[in-house]
Amino acid sequence: MRVGYGLHSRLDVADLDGDWLPLFTVWLDEAGRRGVREPNAMVLGTAGADGRPSTRTVLCKGADARGLTFFTTTSSRKGAQLAASGHASVTFPWLVVERQVHIEGRCDPLDRADSLAYWRTRPRGSQVAAWASEQSQPAESVEELESLFAVAEERLAGVDEIPMPDRWGGYLLTPERVEFWQGGRDRFHDRVECLRGDGGWTVRRLQP
Ligand SMILES: Cc1cc2nc3c(=O)[nH]c(=O)nc-3n(C[C@H](O)[C@H](O)[C@H](O)COP(=O)(O)O)c2cc1C
Repeated sequence: MRVGYGLHSRLDVADLDGDWLPLFTVWLDEAGRRGVREPNAMVLGTAGADGRPSTRTVLCKGADARGLTFFTTTSSRKGAQLAASGHASVTFPWLVVERQVHIEGRCDPLDRADSLAYWRTRPRGSQVAAWASEQSQPAESVEELESLFAVAEERLAGVDEIPMPDRWGGYLLTPERVEFWQGGRDRFHDRVECLRGDGGWTVRRLQP
């Protein structure tokens, strides 16, 4: 397979104006409008104490000057690795628009109040699933899985506002490095890197 790139003219470093967030917001919006189905889906990379990396996709539920938020079961495999290292990386693979963004930095649990605020917006079925599943633990069979959901559903049937499980919550990824990438002709791609320093962001072009 060999796909040629070249949808975009070169990024101007000056367009970033010393901050990653405005361009990220524009690209996220454009990815959605130009056919990426879940443009807020990001591949989350973590590594535990042994330094071995692992990845999986999660949904970005917020992006502002503080960073990116996502939600998960904190006792999961990724949660254990985040607790061990305190760092993460994410990639937004917007392939149909020939773009990707990588963000790396510290990754810390959100305050319980912030996690709860998002928990309350989740559909009831998702809340039941969070109670039913000890994410990343083995399951004996499909029947066991169905039964875990059914038991949780029955237990919560009379509960108006389902409480947030202790093992569930959000994380804030605080960017220290952000890279914007666009496909270029002849694989001579466009890359711009933003690095956080004491005085703010430094923006520079990278070789493809
Ligand atoms: C498009 C997409 C979005 C997902 N969003 C989330 C999410 O927001 N939170 C989450 O915990 N898992 C999400 N998942 C499932 C994760 O990829 C993963 O299977 C799960 O979190 C367990 O990962 P772990 O065992 O490495 O902790 C999503 C999967 C896909 C394909």
